[in-house]
Amino acid sequence: TNESGAAKRAAGQAAAVRVEPGMVVGLGTGSTAKFFTEALAARVVAEGLKLRCVPTSRQSRALAEQFGLPIVPLTRETRPDLTVDGADEFDPALNLIKGGGGALVQEKLVAVSSREMLVIADESKAVD
Ligand code: A5P
Repeated sequence: TNESGAAKRAAGQAAAVRVEPGMVVGLGTGSTAKFFTEALAARVVAEGLKLRCVPTSRQSRALAEQFGLPIVPLTRETRPDLTVDGADEFDPALNLIKGGGGALVQEKLVAVSSREMLVIADESKAVD
C-alpha cells in the first residue's frame, strides 16, 4: 500500500488506455476510479476523444461534470462498452466485494449492463 496512491493512479491510467473512440464508458466510484476518470478526461482533451459516460453514483457524476465529460443516463441505447470501477476486496479467485463507497446498487446496474467490466485496485484490496 502506498499512501500517495501511486498504484491506484497507475491502475486508473492503465484502464484509461483501454477506452476507444465512440465508446459508452461506465464511470466507477471511489478514489481508484477517480484516477481513471481523471486520466480519461485528459485523453478527451489531448485526443478529442468522443465518448458518452454513464456514472455509477452521484460522486462519479459530479466528477464527470467537473471534467466536462458528456454524461448520459443508463438506457437500452447507452449500455456501456466498458465500465471501469474499483473494489473493496478481491481474493485469489478474483471474487470481489464492492459497495463500500455506498454506490452498490447503481454500480451493479451499470456493471451488469456493460459489455466489459474492468476492475482496478491496488494491493491493499487483496485478501485470502
Ligand atoms: C463504491 O461503492 C465501491 O464499490 C468502490 O468501488 C470501492 O469502495 C473502492 O473505493 P476506493 O477506490 O476509494 O478504495
